[in-house]
Amino acid sequence: MRILSGIKPTGNLTLGNYIGALKHFKDFQDSGEVYIFIADLHALTLPIDPEFLRDNTRDVASFYLASGLDPKKTTIFLQSSVSEHAELNAILQNYLYMGELSRMTQFKDKSAKLKQSAIGLGLFAYPVLMASDIVLYDADVVPVGEDQIQHVELTRDLVKRFNARYGEVLVEPKYQMNKVGARIMSLTDPSVKMSKSDPKGDIFLKDDLATIRKKIMSAKTDSGSEVKFDKENKPGISNLLTIYASIKGMSIEEAEKQFTAARYGEFKKAVADAVIEEIGPFQERYKQIRESGEYLAVLREGAQKAKQIAHQTLKRVQNAVGLLNIDEL
Ligand code: TYM
Repeated sequence: MRILSGIKPTGNLTLGNYIGALKHFKDFQDSGEVYIFIADLHALTLPIDPEFLRDNTRDVASFYLASGLDPKKTTIFLQSSVSEHAELNAILQNYLYMGELSRMTQFKDKSAKLKQSAIGLGLFAYPVLMASDIVLYDADVVPVGEDQIQHVELTRDLVKRFNARYGEVLVEPKYQMNKVGARIMSLTDPSVKMSKSDPKGDIFLKDDLATIRKKIMSAKTDSGSEVKFDKENKPGISNLLTIYASIKGMSIEEAEKQFTAARYGEFKKAVADAVIEEIGPFQERYKQIRESGEYLAVLREGAQKAKQIAHQTLKRVQNAVGLLNIDEL
């Protein structure tokens, strides 16, 4: 089984990225061949300062290693160091259509914040590159948070369309989403997703522990006093319960049971303790890796390994669509 996922280095990673994706990548290491990459080409789809992008890229690489990904088991690489991503993108863009791309929630949300004249083609065509990332490694499973499911579904549509025309060339991927924590909400407004690009109410993985505690203690709660999971009437408490349960690796019901007699303040303190207990040591590992620069060798080796697979798939696709391979004639 091949497993593939990635994170965009567009800003400070949030607790949402950690709970919805990063924390779980390592769990796949013993069940298959894992490819985890930094989606730096995707980071260009909205304006970003070059230094900031480079810095974030180093951060994401260090976070990957700090999360327990083992480069001996997992191929960790930078998207832009494997040129096959862009080459496959150039072919696959012909098999997704304007209508379906314009219906993508992420595109609608992000483009709504821009003037029509400032919406880049890359933002619109984002799912084509993401599909290329996935099929390039014949990935069977793509672990993601809820907001990326639509893109994986579109990849499946593309694969079906492509294979119907050319035979069984591409592998159809499935997404895998966590039962608990696939959508962590903002702490100040639990009706919106916690997101790198909308930092209000976020917990950042680089926040110092005192700030993390403060943010959780002042998270928006709901009327009433019971700690109960009820997304509709208690979105703030439900979000905190989700954070607690996913950090502790338990179900929502188990988490709820622990707090049947607790007041909000006491409950928030327990959530803050749990997050700090996990993120504290993670930050220590991150700092050490980031300072040592050891992630650079990992990325170099990862790119070489990734390229071997990517190159084979690209050739297969080029051949299927009828591009003449002059090296083999
Ligand atoms: P990105 O960088 O926005 O997010 C990385 C991962 O974090 C998850 N996530 C969340 N999970 C729970 N709660 C949240 N509030 C939250 N916010 C983010 C995302 O669902 C994602 O799994 N397009 C992708 C990167 C990408 C990719 C790929 C992923 C490019 N190519 C191929 C998988 C396969 C993205 O922008 O993720």
